Amino acid sequence: MEPLYRRQRDYFARMYEAGGPTPWPSTEPTPSVARVSGLLKRRVRGGRALDLGCGEGRHTLLFAKAGFSTVGLDYLLAPLKTVATRARRAGLARRITLLIGDALMPPIKPESFDVLVDYGCFHHVKKADWPNYLDAVLGILKRGGYFHLSVFSTKFKHYPGERRSRNWNVHRNHYDRFFVRRDFARIFGDRCEILAIEEEHKGLEGFFHVLMRKAEIPRSVSSPLRGEGQVEGEKRVTRRTSS
Ligand SMILES: C[S@@+](CC[C@H](N)C(=O)[O-])C[C@H]1O[C@@H](n2cnc3c(N)ncnc32)[C@H](O)[C@@H]1O
Repeated sequence: MEPLYRRQRDYFARMYEAGGPTPWPSTEPTPSVARVSGLLKRRVRGGRALDLGCGEGRHTLLFAKAGFSTVGLDYLLAPLKTVATRARRAGLARRITLLIGDALMPPIKPESFDVLVDYGCFHHVKKADWPNYLDAVLGILKRGGYFHLSVFSTKFKHYPGERRSRNWNVHRNHYDRFFVRRDFARIFGDRCEILAIEEEHKGLEGFFHVLMRKAEIPRSVSSPLRGEGQVEGEKRVTRRTSS
């Protein structure tokens, strides 16, 4: 694992080990994800769902409650233990499997899932690694399967008055990418149909929630982004912060 990603994993580990509230919600599902689980419950009865970077499992539990056989994947053990406890208490343990692993190399067979949820994982993946993410993550989704993605928008602020001159930064040892609406067609459009894009902006929070459907036949076999390379600024910051 490269140094920035190692520090990023340590950052997440510290957030969970601190025992206090995490900077993202811990228990209540985000309304947009809850709406999508309600919609997909009717469309994909009894399917398999994967919560990628599941954290403490608020959406893992949500999809299990909606009747999906659900896998929560995270690269940290501490939050997975919390999910296991919550699943037992909610009587959902038999519908939930927990996996420890890296979202960029998921230990999962191709085309295993009907539904994939990523709330807050992709926006921590550097642009140079998007082709890996697309291959890994879309690879485990069935053709025609649904993919719900929640990422920071450019309106997201870490603190009041934060100013940025570009759409990514390294903040407290983790990489953040901030998206605009047209990014999704460019990044996912060759492999997925984009069904809906919802923008949420309240206070410092700024998110896009994007519902996509994996194409039956991809427009191109390998990612259109592969080989595009890293933007120069990202290289500079990665080097500076990885010593
Ligand atoms: C911002 S939190 C969101 C947690 C959860 N999805 C939620 O909405 O409550 C991001 C989570 O993704 C996990 N994560 C980040 N990058 C990952 C990766 N490459 N592989 C697996 N898990 C990852 C972190 O450990 C953390 O639990």
